[in-house]
Amino acid sequence: MIRIEGLTVVFNPGTADERAAIDGLSLDVPKGQWISVIGSNGAGKTTLLNAIAGSVPVAAGSVFLDGLDRSGEPEHRRARIVGRVRQDPTAGTAPDMTVMDNLALASRKGPRRLLPAKPAALRRRLLERLAELGMGLEDRTGENVARLSGGQRQALALLMAAMTEPAVLLLDEHTAALDPRNADIVMDLTRRFVRDLGLTALMVTHDMRRALADGDRLVMMHEGGIVADLAGREKAGSSVERLVGLFREVRGEDYAEDRDLLS
Ligand SMILES: Nc1ncnc2c1ncn2[C@@H]1O[C@H](COP(=O)(O)OP(=O)(O)OP(=O)(O)O)[C@@H](O)[C@H]1O
Ligand SMILES: [Mg+2]
Repeated sequence: MIRIEGLTVVFNPGTADERAAIDGLSLDVPKGQWISVIGSNGAGKTTLLNAIAGSVPVAAGSVFLDGLDRSGEPEHRRARIVGRVRQDPTAGTAPDMTVMDNLALASRKGPRRLLPAKPAALRRRLLERLAELGMGLEDRTGENVARLSGGQRQALALLMAAMTEPAVLLLDEHTAALDPRNADIVMDLTRRFVRDLGLTALMVTHDMRRALADGDRLVMMHEGGIVADLAGREKAGSSVERLVGLFREVRGEDYAEDRDLLS
C-alpha cells in the first residue's frame, strides 16, 4: 500500500525559478489497487512518481510504502520495493547486456525472492516468464537488449519491474512511445501482471479512454494537486466527455483546444 501525506516537491528552491511541482498532495492507495493518473503537461504526474521512488527530494510531507515512512530513504534502497517503467523503452533495461542477464539482475532485486536461487532452476523459470510474454524473447536470451524492438524492450522492462512483486509498480506513459499494436500488447501484459500478482500500481497516461477502461480508480492532477478522484461506480459511469469537462473546469475553456487531451 501507499500513503502519501501532505507531499510537497519544490524545484529550484530559493531562486527566482522556484516552483512547487507537487503542492501538499495526499493520497491513500490500498494494497492491490490500480490507479490511472491523468493530467495535462506539467501537472506533476512524473514528479509524483519520482517522489514515491525517491528520485527527487521532498520539501515537506511523507511517503509511506508497505507501512514504513520512506521519505528519507534513498532511491537505490527504495528500488527494492519500487518497480518502474518509463515512457522511453531504452530506460528500463541495460542495452549492452543480454536479455537473460538483464532478467537475472532484476530477479535479484526483489523484496521477496520468489525465484529459485540455483542458476539452472532460475534460468528455467526466467525462460518460462519470457515465453509468457509472447514476444519470442525466449529464443533471444543471448542477444543484447539493444537489438530488440521498442515493444520487446518495453515488455521486458515490464517483466523486470513486476516479476519480483514490488510494493508499488510505477508506470509513466509506458506505452506512449509504442505503435498501436505494441501498445496493446504491453497493456495486455500490464493487466496480466497487475491482476495476477495483485500489485499496487500507479499508471500515468494521456489516453483517457485507457484511463477509464483500466484500473480501479482514476486520479486527475492539476498544478501539483489532485483535482478529481473517481472509483467504483463513479469511474465506471464516467466518460471521456466528462473528463474533458473536468479538465475545462480546472483549466479554463480554452483547454478544449488542446489536441493532446482529445487525442
Ligand atoms: N528537474 C526539474 N527541475 C525543474 N523543474 C522541473 C523538473 N522536473 C519537473 N519540473 C517542473 O515541475 C512541473 C511538473 O513536471 P512533471 O514532469 O511532473 O509534469 P507531468 O505531469 O509529468 O507532465 P507531462 O505530461 O508533460 O509528462 C513542471 O512545471 C516542470 O517544468
Ligand atoms: Mg510526465
